Amino acid sequence: MKDTVIIFDTTLRDGEQAPGASMTMPEKVRIAHQLAKLKVDVIEAGFPISSPAQFEAVSRIVAEIQGPTICGLARALEADIRAAGGALEGGRNTRIHTFIATSDIHIDAKFSEDRFGRTIEEKRKTIVRMAREAIELARTYTDNVEFSAEDAGRTDIGYLCEVISAAVEAGATTINIPDTTGYCTPDEYFAMFAAVRNCISDPDSVVFSAHCHDDLGLAAANSIAAIRAGARQIECTINGIGERAGNASLEEVVMALRVRGEQFGVEVGVETKYLTETSRMVSVATGFPVPPNKAIVGRNAFAHEAGIHQHGVLRRRDTYEIMKAADVGQSAEQIRLGRHSGRHGFFSRLERLGIEVEEERRDELYQLFVQLADRKKEIFDEDLFHLVKGNEEHAMNPYYRLDGISVSVGTGKKPEAEVAVYHTRTGELRREKATGDGPVDAIYRAVNHAVGSSHELENYSIRSVSEGADAIGEVAVLVGQGGAYFKGTARSTDVLQASADAYIDALNRLEAYRSDEENMTFVGNGIMRSFHGGLA
Ligand code: KIV
Ligand code: ZN
Repeated sequence: MKDTVIIFDTTLRDGEQAPGASMTMPEKVRIAHQLAKLKVDVIEAGFPISSPAQFEAVSRIVAEIQGPTICGLARALEADIRAAGGALEGGRNTRIHTFIATSDIHIDAKFSEDRFGRTIEEKRKTIVRMAREAIELARTYTDNVEFSAEDAGRTDIGYLCEVISAAVEAGATTINIPDTTGYCTPDEYFAMFAAVRNCISDPDSVVFSAHCHDDLGLAAANSIAAIRAGARQIECTINGIGERAGNASLEEVVMALRVRGEQFGVEVGVETKYLTETSRMVSVATGFPVPPNKAIVGRNAFAHEAGIHQHGVLRRRDTYEIMKAADVGQSAEQIRLGRHSGRHGFFSRLERLGIEVEEERRDELYQLFVQLADRKKEIFDEDLFHLVKGNEEHAMNPYYRLDGISVSVGTGKKPEAEVAVYHTRTGELRREKATGDGPVDAIYRAVNHAVGSSHELENYSIRSVSEGADAIGEVAVLVGQGGAYFKGTARSTDVLQASADAYIDALNRLEAYRSDEENMTFVGNGIMRSFHGGLA
């Protein structure tokens, strides 16, 4: 029978310690529900002594969440253990996780006062005593007690064995050996687990746990190395958020164990099809975007753009994919059409859209596609539709071009915008002014005058895609028209310019749609659509 690896999620505790990642109470509770749906085994819900809000978050999560064990963190101090015990009160499946620093660097910094001992040997003895007392007290609240030797990664191995033997004797049921500073390499971390398991009398009476930080980008690799050395719990966070460079990312360690299961002979109970959904939820709650190339859950994790790759994947998915997108909740076979795509990718997409192309038009169409790909970062299905219909004008030439904006704002003055919009089909340049509730509203009103119609702005969002005062802002808008939606995006260091460009982008898509007699529904970035009539 395979061993099960316990997935201990600490997104709400270590993850929330990431600078700027703090979450509100409803967000934490929502995420805890999602973690239960994902079927993690343990949720570390917070550090109850650290603030009333943390205490309440742990209490609320214990009261509401069914399934996973709910854990509260506590230093090896009486007040901390009592706070954790209090916050977990009433729960059926609870754990207290207590920790104390064991490396000389930490001992020197945190236990410098003489009351802990005068020499390092005396201080080390005090720490063993504190660990023992904390565990014994925690055991009066719950049978499920985890002990962590903080900065184990840089702790003298002989001393680590001494502390851990004492912790097991005192009643700890899980022994965590954290690489608190992300300093270890996989070989070292493996050796540390092997050594500690060797030096305690009955290593199988407790669960060994890995807790890795990503300072050297080795957190997932170290966690997996610990599994090979006998660890059966991994502490990790969604999207790898956490202190400094973050923690081992849950989606990476879980999928490594699943995809390469034959290497480890272990199983994990996580419902991986909810990984992407959970990642998005945590990203929204923390405001930390998921990088497009993030393993497993990134937008590009299953996207193929290079012609050779597209060709391969279309023939046989496993040429360039080691897991199924659907298994982690991503959409399957994401062939991105762009300048690196080849003929095969282009014609396969047309085929999938149900668009038939006569043999004699194929070269010409492919050339048009290549020209378009040189001008657009990504080609969407609607662009292809126009290309094939002989409306390449729609795809290549926008209807409207923004030739200038100026905005004036001031205290006690209604923002005013002036825009110049060039109508490419008629050659007319229209300048219009408008006031609005804010500068963006003023711009959009002026643009509406300049294009001669008003539109419903369904959604407007802005985010910074770089850092600093001159950061690039990315604006995304959704403009509605008779039940159909058109997305426009733009980027600029000038957020008002980006706002105006995004709106014009959406209006160009809307005009392309209007000029078509086919009935199409555009959703999002033109990715999903339904064709009625000839092309379905
Ligand atoms: O990184 C660390 O050592 C911790 C402990 C509290 C386990 O987060
Ligand atoms: Zn940590």
